Amino acid sequence: MSFNVYVTREIPEEGISRLRTVCDTVEINPHPRSLTYDELLNEVKCRDALLTMLSDTIDANLIHEAKELKIIANYAVGYDNIDIEAASSRGIVVTNTPGVLTDSTADMAWALLFSIARRTVEGDTFTRNGKFRGWEPLLLLGGDFREKTLGIIGAGRIGTAVALRSRGWDMKVLYTTRSNRNSMLEETLNAKRVDLQTLLRESDFVSINTRFSEETRHLIGFRELSKMKPTAYLVNTARGAVIDEAALVEALLNKQIAGAGLDVYEEEPGLKPGLAELSNVVLAPHLGSATIETRTKMSLMAAKNIIAVLNNRRPENAVNPEVY
Ligand code: GLV
Ligand code: GLV
Repeated sequence: MSFNVYVTREIPEEGISRLRTVCDTVEINPHPRSLTYDELLNEVKCRDALLTMLSDTIDANLIHEAKELKIIANYAVGYDNIDIEAASSRGIVVTNTPGVLTDSTADMAWALLFSIARRTVEGDTFTRNGKFRGWEPLLLLGGDFREKTLGIIGAGRIGTAVALRSRGWDMKVLYTTRSNRNSMLEETLNAKRVDLQTLLRESDFVSINTRFSEETRHLIGFRELSKMKPTAYLVNTARGAVIDEAALVEALLNKQIAGAGLDVYEEEPGLKPGLAELSNVVLAPHLGSATIETRTKMSLMAAKNIIAVLNNRRPENAVNPEVY
């Protein structure tokens, strides 16, 4: 059919092929970079569907200009880059890619926990720089996991998967959640739902897995960081602005906490001054879902959502079902 789809970055071919079986025009941003806001504004006119990245800002103005648009399929589980209210008011469906990236993102949280607690990145730099002169009894000592306390901020799908991975180390699990108690975690891990202050005070490892909204902006700031143990580690694979990044730089600089592992940043891709100079932080470039299998599944999921909407069917992953 004469559907016209625009894809804002090259993604795994599987999703694109799926789209091409149904849509006449499937155009992909040819550049190895995000489009600027004005370039994107120019591209959205006349499109029936957009397949967007979390790095694209889809605001009310852009939605207003997209007169033919029926669906915005975000290639991410988070969708704080899209003005959902503006989309809903125009009857445009917004979809995301939940579930398929849960395990990869939970693995990434653990990759950061291990690399910060066992100092693998510091060790790598040390070794490459020719400083390794042989085994030493006090070289780069880190922290153990066994029977320590893991705090999960936001025990949704991803937070639950992070917690379940702690079984190998017999960890005590604390969690916070904005929704109902997580009975699965309570039953399988004897996890305890606590308030944020208790979680921060008692945890040896804290993993942020909450979604981003105005309510979770700077959920972890100066006051919260000062509640944490000086031996504790913090990792964030959710959204950067859940942490007040300037306050985190201060806390790391003053050794208020032992270390942090970040996959996301407050002003991505920018880093707050001082962050990159610290040795007690591991910095990853937003790789939570970055595995071949997961990115392939995400491309198929986004394509299926688009095809459903263009065929007047309900997509599986609408985040604004109020448009129906
Ligand atoms: C990644 O951050 C996502 O939301 O999928
Ligand atoms: C993300 O999708 C979550 O629910 O944790």
